[in-house]
Amino acid sequence: MEKKRETFASRVGFILISAGCAIGLGNVWRFPYIVGQYGGAAFVLVYLAFLVLFGLPIMVMEFANGRASKKSVALSYDVLEPKGTKWHWAKWFHMAGDYILMMFYTTIAGWLVQYFVKFLRGDFYAGMTAEQVGGEFDKLMADPSLMAIYMLVVVIVCFYVCGHGLQNGVENVSKKMMICLMLLMVVMAVNSCMIPEGREGLKFYLLPDFSRMQEAGVFNALYAAMGQAFFTLSIGIGALAIFGSYIGDERRLTGEGLNVMILDTFVAFTAGLIIFPACFAYNGGQTGQGPSLVFVTLPNVFNHMALGRLWGAMFFLFMSFAALTTIIAVFQNIISFATDLTGCSVKRAVGVNGVVIAVLSFPALLGYNLLSGIQPLGAGSTILDLEDFIVSNNILPIGSMIYLFFCTRKCGWGWKNFIHEADKGEGLKFPGGKAVQFYISWVVPLLVLFILVMGYKDKFFA
Ligand code: ALA
Repeated sequence: MEKKRETFASRVGFILISAGCAIGLGNVWRFPYIVGQYGGAAFVLVYLAFLVLFGLPIMVMEFANGRASKKSVALSYDVLEPKGTKWHWAKWFHMAGDYILMMFYTTIAGWLVQYFVKFLRGDFYAGMTAEQVGGEFDKLMADPSLMAIYMLVVVIVCFYVCGHGLQNGVENVSKKMMICLMLLMVVMAVNSCMIPEGREGLKFYLLPDFSRMQEAGVFNALYAAMGQAFFTLSIGIGALAIFGSYIGDERRLTGEGLNVMILDTFVAFTAGLIIFPACFAYNGGQTGQGPSLVFVTLPNVFNHMALGRLWGAMFFLFMSFAALTTIIAVFQNIISFATDLTGCSVKRAVGVNGVVIAVLSFPALLGYNLLSGIQPLGAGSTILDLEDFIVSNNILPIGSMIYLFFCTRKCGWGWKNFIHEADKGEGLKFPGGKAVQFYISWVVPLLVLFILVMGYKDKFFA
């Protein structure tokens, strides 16, 4: 007899766990540095438009697929597709996205936990030079065994949580982490906004100036905004669909998706409020890009602040929570692939996938030391950059388009079924008029395709 499928204990649980899946490195790290790179507030406006116009409909589609099928993406197409069609082949593509995302995410989460420990221990202190701070990161990158230990801790802890089941493990732990994350962020944002020398940073972040975006290239900004919208919501890999499969029909899905999106945006926006005033006050307005923002610039900034050790520890604690909630959510998805596909127990799925993910995580961390000769995207790039590119610039947008086609085409699940599912229950309805249907069925895919192709052109043929 098939075991009864677990459901969430509460609606808040569903929203916070879905938000936990969405909220991650994309919000607290990528968002601030991309905003810095593409000119501040003007970019934020473009990004918000992408979120609502592209991200939200696809999020609702994922939830609808999960709720209607009551399965993970490993079987949801099989349940919903018209007989004889091959939509279910898409499962492999979506599932690959989850694994590849985790192949580098676990390593970065390990760095964050390590920096939290470093701040607690007092390894960073006032009076350290910027070179000494940067040197700490270089030391970590050169030490594969230390990185491996932290990566393994992350993998073991997150699978351990998932091993306790949906309600007792994932919901219970992620909910607490999400609440702590938001409280910590609000405290830090208030502190940061009160730094008098940080005003320029706030202006940069909050007052739109399109000329700055022009300087960085409008097209590049659009491309970055689209990538960020897909990445931050984790859409296109079935990681949200799985949570749709654990809820009932009481609420319409557009309202639920909107709540998740608002929480996600709140966290990204608050991260900016923490980072920009501090960087302008203590680092001449330089935010730094990629890893350097979080692991070099900010520790340097904290060293200049009163009680810097405390703020630093708090910062890396909330960053770790953000990353861990995403990892727990994606692991839950990966575990349900295994149980749905093979009918094995959760325990077995945890054990096997724990080993698989741990092993698959090694190339990313070795790419900074033993395998640093492999520079797959050009000089200076790393294996982690390649994995990030594969997921963020390819699998997420293409996977999202597969969901979109499935939900809008007659040869797939179709618009009617989708709208029927999305609008079950109470709350905000999905705008279902002809114009919206046309926009979602044709305009969104064409825009995504255009931006994808141009992004490729820029990356490989510029
Ligand atoms: N949505 C996840 C993040 O923002 C992948 O980090």
